Amino acid sequence: MEKLLTGRRVLVTGAASGIGLAYARSSAREGADLVLVDRDDVRLEEQAVALREHGATVETFVCDIADAEQVDRVWAEIDEGGAVDGAFLNAGVNGTAPIRTVEGELDHASRELWHRVIGINLDGFFFTLQRTAALMKPRGRGQIVVTGSTSGIRAEPLIGYAYVASKAAVHAVARQASLELAKYGIRINVIAPGSFRTNIAGPAPAPPEKAAVWNAGIPLGRHGEPPELEALAALLISDRSSFMTGGVYVVDGGASVLTQVTMEGMQVS
Ligand SMILES: NC(=O)c1ccc[n+]([C@@H]2O[C@H](COP(=O)([O-])OP(=O)(O)OC[C@H]3O[C@@H](n4cnc5c(N)ncnc54)[C@H](O)[C@@H]3O)[C@@H](O)[C@H]2O)c1
Repeated sequence: MEKLLTGRRVLVTGAASGIGLAYARSSAREGADLVLVDRDDVRLEEQAVALREHGATVETFVCDIADAEQVDRVWAEIDEGGAVDGAFLNAGVNGTAPIRTVEGELDHASRELWHRVIGINLDGFFFTLQRTAALMKPRGRGQIVVTGSTSGIRAEPLIGYAYVASKAAVHAVARQASLELAKYGIRINVIAPGSFRTNIAGPAPAPPEKAAVWNAGIPLGRHGEPPELEALAALLISDRSSFMTGGVYVVDGGASVLTQVTMEGMQVS
């Protein structure tokens, strides 16, 4: 069977770890030429080497997406390498201070943290969306997938203010962009993951008692693994989703079906 992405050049931000890396690996298997972007130069290069050993064509670009000048410069370099057919705008950080901790409460919530999280998750997403759309518009085609979050849709007691604000805004910007981009033949959709096992909270796995609190709020009883998002991302960055744009697709082990009341007892510590 012909591979889904043969001959397609696909851009992934946050490609050195977690969800972005899983998508990069799966799109390599589907024949894509990869353009991988991350601010972590060491991990990015390690992953690129591993992908190339499996036969993938990989370009790497080190970029902090929160820095508009870096994004402009790097996307100009990406443009020089040829057309971009698909993009997974995924880079992001977590909020670190959940509202169920003293540091996370309104009285104490750090403004520095607020600006840092908004600066990466929202500003950085917007800068990369601008430049990615600009690459695709002249060609009259393209597919963009954005990593949002279930916490952009509903309140979640174990998440901080900056993170939920950033992800709700990411969903809004992506849906707004779907209106503009449709006439250019560009589709944009959001994947809203629930809890996935990645490096977002640091390289060490969560302590079992903390993981158990999270898992209690997930009907399937566990965190997701990044490859469990691959199929949806692959569908959305392909011609098989030709009537899909402006959508927000939840992948959360059923967590969103729980009500806020069910979640009330959840405590971080
Ligand atoms: N893991 C989860 O439970 C979960 C849930 C919902 C949404 N998400 C979202 O998924 C996306 C990917 O996160 P992950 O869970 O795979 O985490 P991760 O930490 O494993 O991977 C994130 C990658 O993004 C990169 N990155 C962070 N800030 C960057 C910046 N300013 N510029 C360029 N690269 C940057 C990191 O270096 C890292 O390689 C994020 O947008 C995150 O908010 C994750």
